[in-house]
Amino acid sequence: MKIKLFYLIACALFTTITNAQTYAKNGMVVSDNSAASKVGTEILKKGGNAIDASIATAFALAVTHPQAGNIGGGGFLVFMKSDGNATTIDFREKAPLKATTNMFLDKDGNLIAGSNHNGLQSVGVPGTVAGLYMAHKKYGKLPWASLVQPAVDLAENGVPLSYTLYKHALHYKKESEFMANYFTNEKGEITQMDEIWKQPVLAATLKEIRDNGKDGFYKGKVAKEIARFMKKNDGLITLKDLAKYEAVERAPLKGTYKGHDIFVMPPPSSGGVALLEMMNIMELADFNKAPFNSTPYVHLVAEAMRRAFADRAEHLGDPDFNLNMPLEKLTSKEFAKNRYNNIDWQKASVSDSTKYGQIYDGTNTTHLSVLDKDGNAVSLTYTLEHSYGSRLGSPKLGFIFNNEMGDFNPQPGYTNSKGLIGSAANIIKPEKRMLSSMTPTIVAKDGKAVLVIGSPGGRTIINTVFQTVLNVIEFDMPIHMAIETMKIHHQWLPDRILYERGLLSPDTVKALEAMGHTMEPRGQLGRLMGITVDSDNKVYVGASDSSSPDGGAVGY
Ligand code: GLY
Repeated sequence: MKIKLFYLIACALFTTITNAQTYAKNGMVVSDNSAASKVGTEILKKGGNAIDASIATAFALAVTHPQAGNIGGGGFLVFMKSDGNATTIDFREKAPLKATTNMFLDKDGNLIAGSNHNGLQSVGVPGTVAGLYMAHKKYGKLPWASLVQPAVDLAENGVPLSYTLYKHALHYKKESEFMANYFTNEKGEITQMDEIWKQPVLAATLKEIRDNGKDGFYKGKVAKEIARFMKKNDGLITLKDLAKYEAVERAPLKGTYKGHDIFVMPPPSSGGVALLEMMNIMELADFNKAPFNSTPYVHLVAEAMRRAFADRAEHLGDPDFNLNMPLEKLTSKEFAKNRYNNIDWQKASVSDSTKYGQIYDGTNTTHLSVLDKDGNAVSLTYTLEHSYGSRLGSPKLGFIFNNEMGDFNPQPGYTNSKGLIGSAANIIKPEKRMLSSMTPTIVAKDGKAVLVIGSPGGRTIINTVFQTVLNVIEFDMPIHMAIETMKIHHQWLPDRILYERGLLSPDTVKALEAMGHTMEPRGQLGRLMGITVDSDNKVYVGASDSSSPDGGAVGY
């Protein structure tokens, strides 16, 4: 009780809550764009299940939230059925067949700065359409065409350009010829704020997908144009890469926390493993001695993050290329005990820069959470890597290619404290999936989903989802508060704590510095989209992060 009172006071002091919660009895969709959430909710109203709604929402986001919503990228979907069983779909991009381990290095073996995130060679073979199609085939109820059609309509009829997208239009037009034409109207001028923005070329591509399913993207007209465009402009992706691409259904990783089950992605996302490791560490803590937002609490959370990210860097990569990853060990309670026991409560540990570190990760991913009337839940995160990915695309196709090749370790064997990891698990190989931090998560109690959550934010995803899960199930926070309240981020290397400016008391910051932590303020961490269930009243409670300018929770 004391803890709850403390956090309520702490939240009142340190949190600016600008976002209301949305309540619904029958179904809920939360995403980075309220028009896309509405599309998903309409699908639920028509008798679609959570899978149907997530597919329709994801296609709609490819139109209305083009900075990360996509058909040219990839992602992960966690699905928990109302019977308590869970599964996942991995539709992460793959390295093209022509990719090589040293493709981003100069003749001396050093990384050519920026090369792994720029140009068509940074594009991984897209997985989104294959993943959504697999979800539909295995678990959907409504016809495929009815799930793609709302996105076709949004692209064809247009949407009012939001303030955010208008600012993006002005900013990104300098990036490439494709982006210069991307936000234009029929006169070829940049679409103004609130003016209707139409995407007829994208609509035509979506119609191919609507009418031909997965083959509408990976074979036929669209595939031929992708391959032609790549060949002409020095890209690597061929018709063979596209025809070979398959999404993969994988068993979820399952962890527990004080009577809750937690379902997450296995690799090639690192998010699930790291989240479970950190939750196991937190389960050992006495929060009377480390109350929410106190100095010992932030220290403990940061030390848990440091350890989980070191293990992530050392061990994780594509499971199809790394057959002996110690997943069971990393997610075990026993391992967490070792990790917990070597935390010094008086001082910060030191991340050893001769071992493992980080590569720069894009922060513009997007997440959607869905719950349907029967209690089926979908947690889906997908991405183009950077905002607007590679900022490249074919003018004949109207969608943006990812730059996900940047998520591989580009320089084998070279790890430094500033930014590079060189561990073998995540080096480039043809057809390999690059390691991800996406952390779509479903928490269940007594076999029923009670929390569906995820976030964009590159490597910060793991930590913002971790803290939100902890806020809901340890500190009993309502979903909007769990999302909005103070978050920190530590990722082993660089050895520093990022914290949300204004949300941690200056005294706490000083006390943490005195313990040896380097403290760096940031504007915001994460952009969480979540749904909780008030099981007593059978009410769904949704919230989209107030940092998502166009986001929305839509229920019915
Ligand atoms: N591109 C960000 C991630 O996959 O983590």
